[in-house]
Amino acid sequence: MHTLLLGENDDLTPAAASLKQGGLVVFPTETVYGLGAHALDRRAVLSIFAAKGRPADNPLIVHIPDSALLSKLAVRIPPLAERLWAAFSPGPLTLVLERHPAVPAEVSGGLDTIALRIPSHPVALRLLRECGLPLAAPSANHSGRPSPTDFTMACAAMQGRVAAIIDGGPCHLGLESTVVRCLPDRLIILRPGAVSREMLQKTAGVPVTMLGEQSDAESGLALASPGTHHPHYRPRAEVLLLPDDSEQWGEILQGRSLHTAALLCLAAQSVQAGWLAVREFGSVEEYAREFYRSLEDMDRQGAALIVCAPVPQEGIGHALMNRMLRSAGRL
Ligand code: TXA
Ligand code: MG
Repeated sequence: MHTLLLGENDDLTPAAASLKQGGLVVFPTETVYGLGAHALDRRAVLSIFAAKGRPADNPLIVHIPDSALLSKLAVRIPPLAERLWAAFSPGPLTLVLERHPAVPAEVSGGLDTIALRIPSHPVALRLLRECGLPLAAPSANHSGRPSPTDFTMACAAMQGRVAAIIDGGPCHLGLESTVVRCLPDRLIILRPGAVSREMLQKTAGVPVTMLGEQSDAESGLALASPGTHHPHYRPRAEVLLLPDDSEQWGEILQGRSLHTAALLCLAAQSVQAGWLAVREFGSVEEYAREFYRSLEDMDRQGAALIVCAPVPQEGIGHALMNRMLRSAGRL
């Protein structure tokens, strides 16, 4: 398939026209690039799963430009959801609500819920307004691989499989949105992201728990996020996440051939010599923003092993640790 490549300032009419006809368009968001299709067109939605090689039970996030479309996509929206939209949207927060019967069940992998998000990237908003459709959009990677966080990565993953790819530059955050199951009286974080537990707690005024942390009564809901059980964010290289205690690093790395290994770490951490490649980040935010791109870079450089130094589990650090654990196959 010929893929139209569009620049940030180009007219998005052709991309919007493709979406209206049931085509696929890759577009930038502030988190990662998304692979979008008309969310109410069952065939278009199914073609997302085909292009990504995504298991059919892994539900998609539906993107909207503002809250006007909400009542057409979800029902029994709790007042708590309105408060969260007001505080964090547009932005990297996805709310899981009860699905409106008009939305094809395939969007949600057969669940009776729907995940909704208003992205803040200007190009994403322009595309959503131009096409006037709710767009189902997972990250634009092949299933299981790191998510694309710039145009080059998006093209490498999807050129030839989609109608258009729109360049919006490097993604500002670099990790996917926080996914929250929104119940009338509490919130369950299904996937950590830039909107942290502390931020949610402050705004919500109700209990906020993490997936896996809840009581037995809640575990039925936890299972209702099947995407969290599939392998994710895996480069070709083996990924090894170092423990918090740096005293143990030497022992763990002993016997590993560092000349075929790459290291990702914060700049302040002391690094021994002999690595194939080292990427030092000036802040946790930069580490998060560059994480997926670094995995791809290290794969391209032929690393057999990618060693990741941990970060404190606060703010975006919580999301970064979650993705590192998943890349390492430990979650
Ligand atoms: O930042 C993001 O959220 C990006 C950009 C493109 O918006 N999208 C993204 O989509 O990360 P995806 O498909 O890669 O991840 C969607 C996540 C999965 O973990 C999935 O299980 C969860 O959202 N999810 C979607 N719908 C759900 C639902 N109805 N119930 C529970 N979890 C849901
Ligand atoms: Mg994804």
